[in-house]
Amino acid sequence: MANRGGFTSKLGFIMAAAGSAVGLGNIWGFPYEVGQGGGAAFVVIYLIFCFILCYPVMVTEIAIGRKTQKNPVGAFNDLGFKGWNIVGKLGIFSGVLILSFYNVIAGWAFGYIFEMIAGNFAVADKFGEYITAVFKVGLYGLVFMSVTAYVVSKGISGGIERAARLLMPTLIIMMLTLVIYSLTLPNSLDGLSFYLIPDFDKLTPSVIYNAMGQAFFSLSLGMGALITYGSYVNKSDNIISSAAFITLADVGIALLAGLMIFPLIGFMSEGTMEGAARGPGLIFVTLPQIFGSIGGGLGIAAGTTFFVLLCFAALTSTVSLLEVPVAYVVDELKVRRNRAVWLVAGFIFLIGIPSLIGNGYSDFFSTSFITYKEGGQDTDFLSFVAALANDSILPLGGCMIAFFASHIWKKHNLDEELAQGAPGYKGSFIQKYLNFAIGYFAPAVLATVFLFTVLFKFFGVHVF
Ligand code: TRP
Repeated sequence: MANRGGFTSKLGFIMAAAGSAVGLGNIWGFPYEVGQGGGAAFVVIYLIFCFILCYPVMVTEIAIGRKTQKNPVGAFNDLGFKGWNIVGKLGIFSGVLILSFYNVIAGWAFGYIFEMIAGNFAVADKFGEYITAVFKVGLYGLVFMSVTAYVVSKGISGGIERAARLLMPTLIIMMLTLVIYSLTLPNSLDGLSFYLIPDFDKLTPSVIYNAMGQAFFSLSLGMGALITYGSYVNKSDNIISSAAFITLADVGIALLAGLMIFPLIGFMSEGTMEGAARGPGLIFVTLPQIFGSIGGGLGIAAGTTFFVLLCFAALTSTVSLLEVPVAYVVDELKVRRNRAVWLVAGFIFLIGIPSLIGNGYSDFFSTSFITYKEGGQDTDFLSFVAALANDSILPLGGCMIAFFASHIWKKHNLDEELAQGAPGYKGSFIQKYLNFAIGYFAPAVLATVFLFTVLFKFFGVHVF
């Protein structure tokens, strides 16, 4: 296995996996979903999903990866169930889709660094124009994809692990500083109460579906990213505790992002929380306005810091998204790593072009690309791909991975792998819970959510 490389330490793996989890999903996605989902009620549902459903799926993915030391397709083959490698193929397909639009948003964030440095806070009011200037933001996206490819081409310990070790701690320090700052502003407490005191009247089915999609996306689950990362983990590492740490770190950083943003919105809106439900533009529109209102050198420093931080977080995630198809191409198609990296990255950049131009530049991809949902709502390409990949394929993949591990590969084999490096695992409460969750609870809930989500999102059918 020497030629595949591996993480040089337990901490390296945890940092890289946590870096994969922590990304735009936490800092851009989570706050806007909270804002649209009515605040704290979304947060509560999200937390429940993360800990009782997603954590068991994460443990399963890492165990399958470490057992087989393969990419998501090779892993199923290796265990002797070739027919099931469709789950891995589906995962690679969704990973390619996710990276294609993720990189577009990362490109926007990257460009904002220069806007902030230039003190151009007015970019917030012209966000629509900013993302329509496709040659400019496309170039930012191209640079971002190239940096991602460069890191991945350096391999597991030299590239991914080293980048994550440096970036993760920096990120946390930067965020804490912004949280403390935002809590000192007037009306910040109104933001806090919106964020932390639940109003369960706001809990609709779509809030629940979105919370599930968000949990999977944020934890990088359901497409085999953690099968791939798990394949580089040492046999002596403790999967149970590593996965717990990764989940806590991811959830913690999402919560921190909320703590940073909602008090700022409370301040901006003078306590009315108007604008919290703005959606995907939330951090690109509201935040720069706030930085602008701070003004001067401090506003520039805060704005620049924030978008640098966002790009760091996005980079450790794009790296993991690219690593999955690359590992597949290297292992299964026997292409040299370096060549595989640049080919796959180029291909994904091209697939991302409709997402890039579908925000106002191209009418076709912006509005008339597809019509679905509640009788005729036009949807842009990027939203369509995100709904397809995040909210549908990821929960489906998670469902199949859990079902597979427990009933096809068999529970005792999974337990065997989990027990390696986790001395007290056998006979513990956590073993009993994981057996139940992976075998029955997660497959049942995820299959239901998948079905309801697809019916609701694509066909406008409300089951309840
Ligand atoms: N979790 C990352 C985020 O929150 C995105 C991501 C990276 C991802 N790798 C993934 C999502 C694999 C799903 C699957 O930004």
